[in-house]
Amino acid sequence: MSTTAHTSADAFERRLSDSPRSESERAELIASPSFGVVFTDHMARVTWTADEGWTDRRVEPYGPLQLDPAAAVLHYGQEIFEGLKAYRHADGSIWTFRPEKNAARFAASARRLALPELSVEDFLGSIEALVAVDGAWVPGADETSLYLRPFMFAAESFLGVRPSRRVDYLLIASPVGPYFSGGVRPVSIFVAEDYHRAGPGGTGAAKCGGNYAASLLPQQEAYAHGCEQVCFLDAATSSLLEELGGMNVMVVHRDGSIATPALSGTILEGVTRDSILTLLREGGHEVVERDLPLAEVLEGLRTGDVTEIFACGTAAVVTPIGRLVGDGFDLEVNGGATGTVTTAIRHQLTAVQYGRAEDTHGWMRRLA
Ligand code: COI
Repeated sequence: MSTTAHTSADAFERRLSDSPRSESERAELIASPSFGVVFTDHMARVTWTADEGWTDRRVEPYGPLQLDPAAAVLHYGQEIFEGLKAYRHADGSIWTFRPEKNAARFAASARRLALPELSVEDFLGSIEALVAVDGAWVPGADETSLYLRPFMFAAESFLGVRPSRRVDYLLIASPVGPYFSGGVRPVSIFVAEDYHRAGPGGTGAAKCGGNYAASLLPQQEAYAHGCEQVCFLDAATSSLLEELGGMNVMVVHRDGSIATPALSGTILEGVTRDSILTLLREGGHEVVERDLPLAEVLEGLRTGDVTEIFACGTAAVVTPIGRLVGDGFDLEVNGGATGTVTTAIRHQLTAVQYGRAEDTHGWMRRLA
């Protein structure tokens, strides 16, 4: 495999759309965006073949892909993705948050799914190249951003079960508001006891489509119980909190300490998770990454030792959890209201992301 080092967006050839949306159409589409419904005029793309490595870096019009019905991804799910955001600051500039972490996780996911690794330069280059063309799609209203979705899939037409010899990497972008409909408000969580998301040695730490496919049936069970998200327990003992369908989980105690499931290999190493843990520690909170038994959390909710629970992720940012439901329990968290630690950490994180607070960690990267 040949690996040519490309260090910037300049490596991406621009093949621009001859029918981009008008300024007024775009303004209407980004005015109050839902999550992941509308997409910008272009996408970035790089092709990989086993013989030539990564080639043909380009930005091209957004549109349907031509895929052979025998493309391996359609049969064996060899696919990975990432999620990060571009934020518009008050002065009009556009920034993203810790993209190198997403690039590193993308490479780790690729290794686990036997896909080729995309270099950090190409990962960042694709983002810069797409935002250079579609930057006007980054909304400026409160709680909005341009969600960036890099993904990679097995494109070879072949039904044998082995790693694909042709892979496509794409980056698409979608102007978004809050992930959950109804804005930022406490959500209800259903704890799945019959289904697991990942097991030891499996793909739980990789961001691959299959993990999310596996979450859909329990997610439907959550809806049936009047909940918005499902929480998974570990496959080995069915007793420890792992993560939600698409986000990490944190538990706040009366003494201000925070506990979150340790990175055991079966949960996703969230960039938001890591950033929040850093900010909480700096803010003087005791933060413990450890096994987190469901029984302990339920007992804590009953005694008042657990005062807040929240979800975190790129899409969810920091989302308060107001109710925990499962087999034999249905408990309110903090009276169903958003707690003070949750509010404060959300505010602190988004202030950095939206340029309202100083970026003391060097987390922000300017895109335009
Ligand atoms: C993200 O937070 O970016 C996610 O990937 C969660 C979900 C939308 C799949």
